[in-house]
Amino acid sequence: MNATRRRGARLRLVLAGAATIALLGPVAWLWQDSLMPGAYSVMDMGYADHGGALTHVAGTSAHSAHSGHGGHGGQMAPARSLTSLTADPERTPDVAVTLVARKQRFRLPTGREVDGYTLNGTSPGPVIHATVGQLVQVRLVNESVPDGITLHWHGVDVPNAADGVAGVTQDAVGVGRSFTYRFVADRAGTFWYHSHQVSHEQVRRGLLGALVVAPAARPPAAVDVVALLHLYDGARTVNGREGDVRTEAAPGARVRVRVINTENGQTPVWVGGAPFRLAAVDGTDLHEPAVVRDTAVLVTAGGRADIEVTMPEDGSPVRVHVGGPTGVVLGSRSYDAPAAPRPATTLDLLSYGTPAPLGFDPDRPDRRFDYEIGRRPGFLDGRPGIWWTINGHMFPDVPMFVVAEGDVVRVRIVNDSSEPHPMHLHGHHAVVLSRGGVRATGSPWWVDSLEVGTGETYEIAFVADNPGVWMDHCHNLPHATEGLVAHLMYEGVTTPFTVGGTAGNEPE
Ligand code: C2O
Ligand code: CU
Repeated sequence: MNATRRRGARLRLVLAGAATIALLGPVAWLWQDSLMPGAYSVMDMGYADHGGALTHVAGTSAHSAHSGHGGHGGQMAPARSLTSLTADPERTPDVAVTLVARKQRFRLPTGREVDGYTLNGTSPGPVIHATVGQLVQVRLVNESVPDGITLHWHGVDVPNAADGVAGVTQDAVGVGRSFTYRFVADRAGTFWYHSHQVSHEQVRRGLLGALVVAPAARPPAAVDVVALLHLYDGARTVNGREGDVRTEAAPGARVRVRVINTENGQTPVWVGGAPFRLAAVDGTDLHEPAVVRDTAVLVTAGGRADIEVTMPEDGSPVRVHVGGPTGVVLGSRSYDAPAAPRPATTLDLLSYGTPAPLGFDPDRPDRRFDYEIGRRPGFLDGRPGIWWTINGHMFPDVPMFVVAEGDVVRVRIVNDSSEPHPMHLHGHHAVVLSRGGVRATGSPWWVDSLEVGTGETYEIAFVADNPGVWMDHCHNLPHATEGLVAHLMYEGVTTPFTVGGTAGNEPE
């Protein structure tokens, strides 16, 4: 090798090194910049989005990493901690339950062994029953779940301090500790509860159960049955059993089957052997739902669908399929109901039932937000990957949706991310206004969990009537760990809790 060629080789090496630094320098910076601190308040995440409203609160218009977005000073009411947002502490509970959580191996009725979590020895935990207006008090005891636990009341618009989100509304409950939830069951319907600490793992492994709130006046259906769908290690179960759940129902009896989808994806439900009505969605009765047949109902992940069936007079059994060939079989003399194939037709809630007053005017909103879901490569807490974005921003640099109590809020949810997302807003029910620009014409369609399919756009609206700091996230729980989480906060409300920290809070 002569001197010139050696020099050339050295130059190439130097240039290659420089190129590597030039390329990796920004990447290293992005990596470094994505690392989450050991403890942080969700109020310090991202940037405030006031939804176009003029804000009266000082210090909220710009990004302020240290003071957060919350009300401090300004002309508004003084800041209050969300720990003060509770049900009346003086009131005696009408329903009082203690739930003891354990990490343990347990068996499904088929004998299949599951390494998971139980509440009072079972998974799902016990069904909690209440009547509208009653004060429900649940004492959660952690006997042996090492990561700590919480309970979130999915679909119940509880006072914020009872929302059960680790690091946002409370600290995770460590082994040997307890936490008491208190809320008034404000509406009749089907709900569920689940851990919101390391929820993608704790929900999957069984830390969940059903909550049924009966109406105060309306006569209950003759037969009322919960059908909670959950997969344990891939085994599809209803109420914790593989195979059919048999329920006795006399000929002519009116039956309500409360389907709860605790899974990460949308699930079809259909009925063989009788026509049915979809009586309620996400804990709200639909208005004048028509009787349908040969139609599937899609239940959003986290969502609920109450199916109402009138039993055939001839005594033949009825099969309510929950996501597949099995489900709930209703019968009296016989439970021999053949499996029916999934119908080709799907019920469209945009035009099902008839209109009724909403109680507010969504066309005169005080705030308008976009929640646009995308995807791009980058680092999330130092991990390289392709992560979700909200309005172009990657977690934790996502919008904080800021409202004031009493606001009418309109949200446009756009999904440009090539995967569906079941979006769940805590503490509120929102009404669907339109999908893909087509206005809703059926019954008011109130949701707490809304499937937003690939390429879809929904407009929803709600009244900001429940002060607090509320998660607004994807209920495909692994997606939440991949950054599809934002929050809705009320001006003047603050949280003393932090994600991470000594309690090890990890809500996703
Ligand atoms: Cu069902 Cu944020 O949860
Ligand atoms: Cu998602």
